[in-house]
Amino acid sequence: MSYKFTGQWVLITGASSGFGAAGAMAFGRAGARLLLGARREDRLSAAALEAKAAGAAEVGYHPLDVASTASVEAFASWVREFTPRVDVLVNNAGGALGLEPVVEGKDADWETMMQTNVLGVLRMTRAVLPLMLPHRAGTIINIGSIAGRTAYEGAAAYCAAKAGELQITRSLRLELCGTGLRVATIDPGMAETEFSLVRFKGDIERAKKVYEGVQALRSEDVAEAMVWVASRPPHVCIDEMIIKCTDQAAIHKVNRRAKA
Ligand SMILES: NC(=O)c1ccc[n+]([C@@H]2O[C@H](COP(=O)([O-])OP(=O)(O)OC[C@H]3O[C@@H](n4cnc5c(N)ncnc54)[C@H](OP(=O)(O)O)[C@@H]3O)[C@@H](O)[C@H]2O)c1
Repeated sequence: MSYKFTGQWVLITGASSGFGAAGAMAFGRAGARLLLGARREDRLSAAALEAKAAGAAEVGYHPLDVASTASVEAFASWVREFTPRVDVLVNNAGGALGLEPVVEGKDADWETMMQTNVLGVLRMTRAVLPLMLPHRAGTIINIGSIAGRTAYEGAAAYCAAKAGELQITRSLRLELCGTGLRVATIDPGMAETEFSLVRFKGDIERAKKVYEGVQALRSEDVAEAMVWVASRPPHVCIDEMIIKCTDQAAIHKVNRRAKA
């Protein structure tokens, strides 16, 4: 792709790995100025370096925990030191924890999923909108999931969280109608990132099994979708994009190749 984001500020949450880090690279390659947030500073700084090497005009990073209002507000103050204007906000931070049925569910896992995927998106958007509204242009991209559209076993809280995120996207689009801002959701299917490693709390073998025999989406595929959505002409809003690997026809229908 040869899109140009010269002079534009792109803010990405959850930029320390997976889609967020790949998004930083992709917007960086397009010459954007980047503001990156996540909790792991070492990984964030590595992603920032790579994005700079890829061509980003400027890269700033700062610790961010979207589950904490104080952290989100501190992050927004840090952003204001760089720029009075954000052109693209990518609400990507989130994920799943556990795959137990509700009868065995853990409060801590449920609370974290709601805090990051739902409340985190609300908090970040509230904090960043004052840097977008005065300019009467800009793009908010929320990273949802096909889990927000179709339920699956062991994922009641994650599916509920991503369904909640989808409705936040839709409400925001209504609230912001007439402001010049557009609101999109990109809802991926299975993608090989650290998602399953986090979900299974560091169990590498269990995480690997999720993708066994499947040519899953790569982070870069979703990053390219982000760049494409944000680079449409200002009068075009990609409301909702579902992106899955060809091997995943539906949430429960996955083609797995036998080992050679
Ligand atoms: N991979 C998939 O199959 C898939 C499919 C559909 C949707 N998604 C969604 O895509 C998004 C990105 O996931 P991924 O697949 O790229 O997984 P990933 O590699 O685990 O990345 C998740 C990112 O979110 C950040 N994050 C998590 N909790 C955070 C918090 N409280 N505050 C700030 N940052 C936080 C992580 O950074 P730190 O740990 O450093 O904070 C990390 O950078 C998530 O919203 C996920 O639900 C993933």
